[in-house]
Amino acid sequence: MFHYIDGGSDDEWTLRRNRQGFADYWLLPEVLRDVAEIDLSTELVGQRIALPFFLAPTGMSRLFHHGKELAVARAAEKFGTFYSLSTLGTTSLEEVAATIATPKMFQIYILKDRELTREFVQRCKAAGYEALCLTTDMAMAGNRERDLRTGMIMPPRFGLGSLWSFIAHPYWSLNFLAHPDFRLANVAHRVDALGGGAMGLIDYVNSQFDRSVTWRDVEWLRGEWDGPLVVKGVLSPADAERACAVGANALMISNHGGRQLDGAPAPVDLVRPIRDRVGDAAQLIVDSGVRRGTDIVKAIALGADACSIGKAYLYGLAAGGQQGVEHVLGLLRTELVRAMTLLGCASINDIGEKHVAELGEIA
Ligand code: FNR
Repeated sequence: MFHYIDGGSDDEWTLRRNRQGFADYWLLPEVLRDVAEIDLSTELVGQRIALPFFLAPTGMSRLFHHGKELAVARAAEKFGTFYSLSTLGTTSLEEVAATIATPKMFQIYILKDRELTREFVQRCKAAGYEALCLTTDMAMAGNRERDLRTGMIMPPRFGLGSLWSFIAHPYWSLNFLAHPDFRLANVAHRVDALGGGAMGLIDYVNSQFDRSVTWRDVEWLRGEWDGPLVVKGVLSPADAERACAVGANALMISNHGGRQLDGAPAPVDLVRPIRDRVGDAAQLIVDSGVRRGTDIVKAIALGADACSIGKAYLYGLAAGGQQGVEHVLGLLRTELVRAMTLLGCASINDIGEKHVAELGEIA
């Protein structure tokens, strides 16, 4: 499970660049700016949130903790920020909506079965989701070799072959067996109708990824959903422009945490060129590699509106359920306050281009 969260695709060049990318930018503080009060709140796709970062959609949280998506959603609510639920969640979108009162984003795919995609849109409207997030970088799964090496299968099953895992991780193994509720809750009804079990579910989902999707289909989705639409997986100024042209309200500059195309650039390196290309036509979210408060400050200084985090909160979830996620959010919030205080910025709007530079640019 650790490697499923932590790993990237192929040689993990992109996974490593996601971190190194942040290290290549430097923060330029201004002193004596009255930073007695720090305000971290900001506005994202029409919602006021208490932090300039939120929880990215990640599938199958039940793999990591029996508190599953609800543990993450409750932590997000406590910190007053967006929670985004994956189509591949192990909790239904309705259950998440009934559990938290803070803004929710549903991560959708344009599936082969367009009726199912349309059904998700209707269910999101009925459940009161504030935004939709369309993932576009999943035409097929990345080659995650750590999962091949560890023998990762979904859902995990225990047999003689996994005896070593059982001995090495008895708590996790027993805990998983004690809560045998692994279910892709948002699509399970479809598979039940086909008469399939849990494995059938994964096969069903894999069979639904549609490699023929184009921007015309995004236009179709835009017509189905009149709320804020976030396009996730944009990695070039040209695609950013296309996303704006079909009516996206925000772009998630993301390489899926280094799990898809190895060799893709780090989002932090694309913020400036994408902001230059799209101007104020869309909000920009930086996602992939965010681990520190200073990373978030750098992304915002380069032109982003917010960041989203994946692995960071999943480590917390796996280690300690809701409490673990809250611990991670607390660390990031504390780091952000410290970074802004030392940078001389009392609010998110105070953070600007003058606060960041590559080494050669520092005057
Ligand atoms: C993901 N991500 C993801 N994205 C998505 O759109 N739908 C999904 O179901 C998932 N599932 C998923 C599972 C796991 C275990 C991880 C680590 C990631 C990608 C996620 O939304 C986000 O783009 C990355 O996690 C961001 O990079 P960092 O923060 O993990 O470096």
